[in-house]
Amino acid sequence: MAPTSLSDLKRKDLLQTKGFINGEWVPAKSNKTFPVLDPATLNHLADIPEMGASDAALAVDAAHTSFTTFRKTTGRERARLLRRWNDLNLLHIDDLALILTLENGKTLAEAKGEVLYATSFLEWFAGEAERTYGEVIPSANVNQRILTFKQPLGVAACLAPWNFPIAMITRKVGAALAAGCTTVWKPAGETPLSALAQAVLAHEAGFPAGSINVVTTLDLVAEVGKELCTNKKVKKVSFTGSTRVGKILAGHCAGAVKKMSLELGGNSPFIVFDDAKIETAVEACVVAKLRNSGQTCVTANRIMVQRGIYDQFAEVLSKRIGGMKVGRGTDEGVAIGPLTHERAVQKAMNHINDAKKHGGQVILGGAPIEGTKGYFIQPTIIKNMSQEMLTTREETFAPVVGLYKFDTEEEAINLANDCDVGLGGFIITENMARSWRVVEALEVGMVGVNQGMLSAAENPFGGVKESGYGREGGAQGIQEYLAVKSMLINVSV
Ligand code: SIN
Repeated sequence: MAPTSLSDLKRKDLLQTKGFINGEWVPAKSNKTFPVLDPATLNHLADIPEMGASDAALAVDAAHTSFTTFRKTTGRERARLLRRWNDLNLLHIDDLALILTLENGKTLAEAKGEVLYATSFLEWFAGEAERTYGEVIPSANVNQRILTFKQPLGVAACLAPWNFPIAMITRKVGAALAAGCTTVWKPAGETPLSALAQAVLAHEAGFPAGSINVVTTLDLVAEVGKELCTNKKVKKVSFTGSTRVGKILAGHCAGAVKKMSLELGGNSPFIVFDDAKIETAVEACVVAKLRNSGQTCVTANRIMVQRGIYDQFAEVLSKRIGGMKVGRGTDEGVAIGPLTHERAVQKAMNHINDAKKHGGQVILGGAPIEGTKGYFIQPTIIKNMSQEMLTTREETFAPVVGLYKFDTEEEAINLANDCDVGLGGFIITENMARSWRVVEALEVGMVGVNQGMLSAAENPFGGVKESGYGREGGAQGIQEYLAVKSMLINVSV
């Protein structure tokens, strides 16, 4: 029998319902809690501490004290801890995937994929921990030598979203710990259980008390975010989430000129040229649009198809998506789970209705799924999309595919760039010269060519414009948690 509830966990202590501060499982100072629900059934999963600013300050204090010793560990010691944490994740992948599916809604297959994606950051940063090289710089002064080395910044606050509750923790925290920083994690209120299970395993791997701390909150998120951004003991804030909240946090951080990484909203163009292979285009679109039920920051949001291939692409895509089963992530054969919260269904319906009002033609789906308590919406395809529609400006964050038509390469580039944000983009073409031209012209941080996936631990992940700054993963990821120090030596006799 496939597991369907938290009572099916093989390792029961992976389910934790308290915050984690200085190596201890603790309630909120106020003793208040908030409920975590399964978005597929609205079943109650757990009650979790509603922590506030004073709890966050305690976590920061613990991380600050821990930093005095943790900063002196060698890269190799930290690499070993990260590898142990990685191995523990692999050992408990089934339990971790179950917790993730139950609180986020994604299918068990996708949840296992996320655990593997998450561990890839631990492995990657284990390697990077020992490679934080400095430089020897030729000096213009014959009596001087200059060299640089890198030092950890200090306490890093890692604010993770609900769409990838494990991978976004390891992508941030893996880099921070590899660099020698200590950490305070703030998981999303919708999905704290996955982060708490990660704290169990990181602690078991041997990370010392105070180097990892988890502050849980739902309603007090603004107050906790403010504390983490304004507390002077925090030297780095990494946030993944909306552009709106990113701007607020950046404002808080400005007071102490605090270093930040911001991975904010996207509105990814997905451009299919006439010369594309139709199967490649359809499969890439399914991945780019439907992964995590359309709830990724890099999800294809504006699907632009050149006129010559438009109707054929719409037809093949419609057959492909129409055959995908929607349901509870733990059920056999399900390819698309629920959305993670109720507001998401309403937002998707607003986008669909707005498109219809402006002449959009729904050729698949178009409505919530009736007869279920969960946050389900039918996978939807809309033809005849136009610029004035809501989806052009806002991420839909749902399995809703809006098909825009274009004629020329130049037109596609202009439409794609007519946007305030620039995280990911995708192009489908068999023309090598065109792929170079378009990749160079798109105002985004990452472009997938003939594929719908941008995620890899070794890839620097991040955007331009209002999608934020900084990169996570890749050789750049660890640098976000390091400061360069230079040493100038007088060698005159
Ligand atoms: C995100 O949605 O922010 C992350 C997606 C990914 O890493 O693939």
